[in-house]
Amino acid sequence: MKINKSLTLTKPDDWHVHLRSGEMLAKVLRDTATSFNRAIVMPNLSPPIRTTYDAVSYQREIKAALNKDSDFTPLMTSYLTDETDPDDLIAGFKRGVFTAAKLYPAGATTNSDSGVTNTLLLDPVFSAMSNAGMPLLIHGEVVDHKIDIFDREHKFIELVLEPLRNRHKNLKIVFEHITTKSAVDYVRSSSPDKLAATITPHHLSVNRSDLFAGGIRPHLYCLPIPKREEHRIALVDAACSGDKRFFLGTDSAPHLIEEKESSCGCAGVYNSPNALLTYIAIFEQNNALDKLNSFASLNGPEFYNLKPNNKEIEFVKRSSPMSFDDLQVGSSRVKTFVPPFPLFWSAK
Ligand code: NCD
Ligand code: ZN
Repeated sequence: MKINKSLTLTKPDDWHVHLRSGEMLAKVLRDTATSFNRAIVMPNLSPPIRTTYDAVSYQREIKAALNKDSDFTPLMTSYLTDETDPDDLIAGFKRGVFTAAKLYPAGATTNSDSGVTNTLLLDPVFSAMSNAGMPLLIHGEVVDHKIDIFDREHKFIELVLEPLRNRHKNLKIVFEHITTKSAVDYVRSSSPDKLAATITPHHLSVNRSDLFAGGIRPHLYCLPIPKREEHRIALVDAACSGDKRFFLGTDSAPHLIEEKESSCGCAGVYNSPNALLTYIAIFEQNNALDKLNSFASLNGPEFYNLKPNNKEIEFVKRSSPMSFDDLQVGSSRVKTFVPPFPLFWSAK
């Protein structure tokens, strides 16, 4: 990797993105396909992508929405429910339709109502995945509303993740969009081919005070919710260390502006247009640009047993900061993430 006023990376992949469907998909897909060569596509549509059949048709919809000359590859995931059929799941994995399966604890986040009510019910599914080498992707928050929202990830480790990993020692797990020092420490204490974590650009950039800076900031609201500054620092430290257990996953999750700016605004940050540039800024601020290629382009493929992309992407440092327009979707808009610092890099 060359570093100067320009920066060249192996073309990255996004190991966690929400592309939605219909017109929203058509609008957001270009931003993901421009920055990334592959992406793990989240299955929390309404209704969710559960079966191999669902995933084949969703993947077809995504490919049909791509520019003709695009070689972007959507990697599909299955939305686990209490009723997931392990035979269909593993058959879909072996056929190459599914790359992984996603566990949403029921009620934890956007479109998670059909998620899993009790992970014990899924032990046969986890055993089958473990035998097949199929990765399990986890939204790691407990759903007990008596547990403070800022503690839900921390508690999940002790109450759900550690017991699950003890029952399925060979299962490959990605702890998605981690937000706490506890999660960083937990992942660091594990075997790198069994447990890894994605880290988002927004959780590297904002803490919980930023959510309320001068007033409530609905466009920074996402789940898991950003935590105290000490947690943000732990995430930055993990990402910038180059440790192969940590890799890029934007969790870009578009919602129309009226769904965010509402008396009950929904969770999700749309960052696809500037996710890579935000990561670059964070790594630069922490004198870790030499570790960015590992985080953005090598660690993810290694965990998923895939080859890194054989293309490169070049960035240049500008003298004036970049700005990003909102995305027009139908008669509404989706607001692009605004990090609390200027973005001076841009793709060449
Ligand atoms: C995601 C969404 O909108 O689909 N929202 C979010 O806040 N991250 C769901 C998720 O990944 O939790
Ligand atoms: Zn997500």
